[in-house]
Amino acid sequence: MADQYAHPGEDKPPTDIPAIRWEEPPEGPVLVLLDQTRLPVEEVELVCTDASALVEAIRTLAVRGAPLLGVAGAYGVALAAARGFDVDEAATALAGARPTAVNLSVGVERARAAYRAAVADSGDPQQAAAATLAAARQLHREDAEASVRMARHGLALLDELLPGGGHRVLTHCNTGALVSGGEGTAFAVALEAHRAGQLRRLWVDETRPLLQGARLTAYEAARNGMAYTLLTDNAAGSLFSAGEVDAVLVGADRIAADGSVANKVGTYPLAVLARYHHVPFIVVAPVTTLDPHTPDGASIEVEQRPGYEVTEFSAPQVQVTGAGGGVAVAPLGTQAYNPAFDVTPPELITAIVTEEGVVSPVTAEALADLYARSHQV
Ligand code: MRU
Repeated sequence: MADQYAHPGEDKPPTDIPAIRWEEPPEGPVLVLLDQTRLPVEEVELVCTDASALVEAIRTLAVRGAPLLGVAGAYGVALAAARGFDVDEAATALAGARPTAVNLSVGVERARAAYRAAVADSGDPQQAAAATLAAARQLHREDAEASVRMARHGLALLDELLPGGGHRVLTHCNTGALVSGGEGTAFAVALEAHRAGQLRRLWVDETRPLLQGARLTAYEAARNGMAYTLLTDNAAGSLFSAGEVDAVLVGADRIAADGSVANKVGTYPLAVLARYHHVPFIVVAPVTTLDPHTPDGASIEVEQRPGYEVTEFSAPQVQVTGAGGGVAVAPLGTQAYNPAFDVTPPELITAIVTEEGVVSPVTAEALADLYARSHQV
């Protein structure tokens, strides 16, 4: 079945423009983002000159994905410091821009701590700004390095669970270079398998309502020359029952202390399907996504998004007619249930792959161990 969907692909890097970069033109420092709301139609940059522009970019998902939100948050604090804004005010606004991905507040707090320490040390705002930027750059570098290690650990795990190779992997949402300083999380594992000649097919869930799979993962897969096929989220069940999925690889926005994983809405049903069909369900995330302060899945705050994202199509390439700026696909006034994430309980997760190693089975003790190891100084 799979081969009739072969895609020619293009042998190009994931994007010619990095998802985020810091620049210092004569007018003052700026944070330049690849505007992900415009992909795949066009590669447009968004230039943020202050934290409030970045907060807006985070809310509208111009910049998104847990690891990148952490990096963006840290640079946002650095931007406030470099431009002489109130750093605490900026940090609080940035950390609160979206509630679910813990990486955002982790990144913001790391930069804020660097700023405070430098102020206490030198009292010099310029030195404090430089120290804050250095902290953001360090987080950016660490995230890129974590990608490389997650990819290696993830492929080793796939090879161990699925001897014989030729993996057919289902993924959800977008977890590649667009969410990271490197090549991402779950997508980086699939890419590693592709480069090793071990990826037979990447099944890409379109990921309603904002189509991160169709718009972003398919874009990254095509540019990397991977064999990929796009499906509607609703088609996943039939794919499992046809025996076409060897493993599911997804990212995470927050991993609670008990191993519950918040990720893009639609992840949990995949975990249920995977369990029923005896298919490994693997979560790939950096340790910055582990949150020992959130005890369990019920304690994770799930972001609720505006209903018009469901009642209208508002991708940039479609004609604008609806009240929320998109084409209405439901009667005017229809109420919509639109959680951005759902929570998968640990018992449905085969393994959590981090840059520090693999946790399987997923238990609170094993995660606490890994967290403690990764935070040793
Ligand atoms: O709402 P988004 O697009 O920011 O959601 C992103 C996801 O759910 C990703 O799967 C998650 O952040 C992991 S990315 C490595």
